[in-house]
Amino acid sequence: MVQAASIHPTHDLFDEIERLKQELNAVILAHYYQDADLQDVADFIGDSLQLAQEAAKTEADTIVFCGVHFMAETAKILNPDKLVLVPDLKAGCSLADGCPGDAFARFKAKYPDHFVVSYVNCSAEVKALSDVIVTSSNAKKIVEQIPADRPILFAPDQHLGRYLIKETGREMVLWPGTCQVHELFSEKKLIQLKARHPAALVVAHPECEKTVLDLADHIGSTRAILNFVVASEAKEFIIATEPGIIHQMEKATEGQGKTFIPAPPDSACACNECPHMKLNTLEKLYLSMKLKSPRLEMDEVLRVKALAPIQRMLDWS
Ligand code: 13P
Ligand code: SF4
Repeated sequence: MVQAASIHPTHDLFDEIERLKQELNAVILAHYYQDADLQDVADFIGDSLQLAQEAAKTEADTIVFCGVHFMAETAKILNPDKLVLVPDLKAGCSLADGCPGDAFARFKAKYPDHFVVSYVNCSAEVKALSDVIVTSSNAKKIVEQIPADRPILFAPDQHLGRYLIKETGREMVLWPGTCQVHELFSEKKLIQLKARHPAALVVAHPECEKTVLDLADHIGSTRAILNFVVASEAKEFIIATEPGIIHQMEKATEGQGKTFIPAPPDSACACNECPHMKLNTLEKLYLSMKLKSPRLEMDEVLRVKALAPIQRMLDWS
């Protein structure tokens, strides 16, 4: 590969990334599902909302985004004049990829009176068709601010949508999307695991199916799950979300004797790992900074349309 050839064998990638960070006046933002190395070189690690908030306020000239495409796109929408670099432009998301803008526009046209709430895991095209964006950490709070007489259309995650219907009591029309990682956690295997670890608390992300959420002691965004395990008196936890977050759980509870058990997926595969998030590597991060590529570019008309519902989310959060 041309790119791999440009890494000098004697270079320490951690030192090189630090040097390039100064050179580019860059900030490295990373999601909790990234590999431990990427979390360790990041200036800021967070859930989707925290990463958007950090991108909105950064004074760096360059944002290097270790996450997936829709997250870097959100950073670019908020920062049109900054250079936004990503280790791998192909890092997508089954929720965003399963809800194309043109199909969503046709779906939305069937519900002209509905207030359109879109989960941040969607493309800029879908954001531009939305009234407000939510993340898993602010969705309930934001839905509660929508006038009671407005019907709601929620996209693209049907499981988060159903969870919100239960939490807020609001009826919603749902786009039938799913996260390919969270939908594979197995209720049956989780019950078996709980039987083997009766003292363990189950924490789950609301992208999981209802049958898994019904077994959870705590449901929340990645950040909320992390906060919960850190504050809890319990010693054992079953983690029903992408296991990348366990790195921060272990760091934050070092010496406390807490154990974190990844919830099992349906089959004997590593499919509880997000294949999109895992496309990013330390090598690709280094090369993206060295080559100033790949970069996130956006059409300005689309950017302005997608900005309004993101701005409303930040204001309502
Ligand atoms: P949060 O970090 O906002 O909980 O989102 C999880 C996720 O699936 C990101 O793609
Ligand atoms: Fe998308 Fe699921 Fe991966 Fe999150 S974990 S980026 S929702 S595919």
